[in-house]
Amino acid sequence: MSLLQIGILGSGKGSNCRAILERVRKGQLAVDVRLVLSDVFDAGILELAREFGVPNAYLPPGPFRTRLTPESEMALVQMLHEAHVELVVLAGFMRILKAPMLEAFPKRIINIHPSLLPKFPGLEAWKQALLAGEKVTGCTVHLVDASIDGGDIIDQRGVPILPNDSAESLHARIQIAEHEIYPEAISRFVVRGNK
Ligand code: GRF
Repeated sequence: MSLLQIGILGSGKGSNCRAILERVRKGQLAVDVRLVLSDVFDAGILELAREFGVPNAYLPPGPFRTRLTPESEMALVQMLHEAHVELVVLAGFMRILKAPMLEAFPKRIINIHPSLLPKFPGLEAWKQALLAGEKVTGCTVHLVDASIDGGDIIDQRGVPILPNDSAESLHARIQIAEHEIYPEAISRFVVRGNK
C-alpha cells in the first residue's frame, strides 16, 4: 500500500501540524507529508516544516483579508498537484477556500475547528462558547465545502469548560484534544482512501 500523500496549509504557529509531523516521525501515522504551505511569510508553521525537513513555501495571498485571489488560489492548486498531494489538511489556515481548490480536491480537504460543530462556526469559537455560558465545548474534524465550517463531520471530541477558564486556558485545553483527534482522523482517512 502506498502512503497517502498529504499537504498541510496553515497561517499560525502550527501546533496541529507539529502533532501530525511527530506522529509521522514516530511511525504512528502512515502518511507522506509532501508540502507545508502558508499565506503568512513568517508563520511558525513554516519554521516547523523546516525543523522537520518537510518541503515548505510561502504563498502570497493577495490583497483580500479572508480569501486568496483566484490567481493565488490557482497557484496553490498547482503547487499541491506538483507535489502529488491527495489530501489537503487545513491546520489553522485563516482563509476561505473557493472554487479552484474545492473543485481540484472534492471531499479531499479537511479542517479542524475549535468547537463542537454545528455550534459556533467562524472565528474564535472557544470565546463564543465561553460567552454563551456553555459547560462543554470541543473540537471537530470536518470536510471542507463551500460553507463556513459546515462540511460533513468526520470526528469530534468534547472538552469541559471550567468555572475559572479564560479564553486562553480554554483554547489551550481544546488544542490538547485537537492534537489527538486530528492525526487519528487522518489515519482513518488513510484506510478509507486506500480501499
Ligand atoms: C486551531 O485551534 C484550530 O482549531 C483552528 O486554528 C487553530 C490552529 O492552531 N482552525 P495551530 O496553528 O495548529 O496551533
